[in-house]
Amino acid sequence: MRKQTEDRLILAIESSCDETAAAVVRNGREILSNVIYSQIALHTQFGGVVPEIASRKHIEKINQVIEQALQDADVTLQEIDGIAVTYGPGLVGALLVGVAEAKAISFATGIPLVGVHHISGHISANYIEHPDLEPPFVCLVASGGHSHLVVVKDYGEYEIIGRTRDDAAGEAFDKVARAIGLGYPGGPKIDKLAKEGNPEAIHFPRAKVAENEYDFSFSGLKSAVLNYLNSCQMKGEEVNRADVAASFQKSVTDVLVEHSLHAVKAFGFHKFAIAGGVASNSSLRAAFETECAKRGIEFYHPSPIYCTDNAAMIGVAGYYEYKKGVRHGFDLNAVPNLQL
Ligand code: KG4
Ligand code: ZN
Repeated sequence: MRKQTEDRLILAIESSCDETAAAVVRNGREILSNVIYSQIALHTQFGGVVPEIASRKHIEKINQVIEQALQDADVTLQEIDGIAVTYGPGLVGALLVGVAEAKAISFATGIPLVGVHHISGHISANYIEHPDLEPPFVCLVASGGHSHLVVVKDYGEYEIIGRTRDDAAGEAFDKVARAIGLGYPGGPKIDKLAKEGNPEAIHFPRAKVAENEYDFSFSGLKSAVLNYLNSCQMKGEEVNRADVAASFQKSVTDVLVEHSLHAVKAFGFHKFAIAGGVASNSSLRAAFETECAKRGIEFYHPSPIYCTDNAAMIGVAGYYEYKKGVRHGFDLNAVPNLQL
């Protein structure tokens, strides 16, 4: 790769959950490399992420993943202008691996260190494939740990207007998947199975939160699915798992679409984006596509590979922080419950 003098290259590191990832990003929008080592296969046998195993695997893989990212981008460390790293939220032991690694590289080379918020990364994934997208806009972040409705006021500047009161959307997918015997991670498996089912077969509730019309609640829906499964079992009726998957997915989709697009209109925006692992759900994307078109709202979404955890998105968010002059010292620490 030939680096121009005005080019700014960010080496990004992400290790907040069960993906060990590194990427090189040019000028905040162009992904030169995006390496992801997924630990999913390792955690599947336990039905979810085991934090201790995740940390150990991150330690084992992180150097390899970073070297691969530099190699794929055809750059050397000498050409890197900033090191961006996720420092929260996430699993503390997992986060610490990325943070310690980023600090070590920064210390050894003198390259500035920039800590990045994981959710800011998810939102910023939208900038990768949409060169025209600039703030302000509304973004729905739906992942395994978060369901936030956010006004993106500027790069790295957010106002949360709605959040989940209990389970995150991805968490609901994972729990329902486990209940119908699909295993971990549930989201992609429900997505696939739902294609064979009837979304109108079973009516599951669409929860509203009285105090804030933009908040979400998914625990009632999860209980409704469990109750349905129990009652089928007690009556000796066979469960059509595809119908359960499709009906559950429809219920989540309806709530996310209704709350989000209501907020877009109420706050006077015309641009709407989705982010996070659940944003790769095919039914959710299709529903937003249709509903946004009907309401004259411009709809943005990252490719599935940039929806689930990756370092490219951290590099994008990190670039805009770097540009603003944000620099972190070697006292940067992992913050498992970091607020947006
Ligand atoms: O953003 P992400 O990779 O990690 C977190 O920051 O949490 O999101 C992972 C979550 C998991 O709960 C997973 O089941 C869900 O995203 N997910 C999906 C799909 N792909 C991943 N949920 C629904 N449909 C999908 N296709
Ligand atoms: Zn994530």
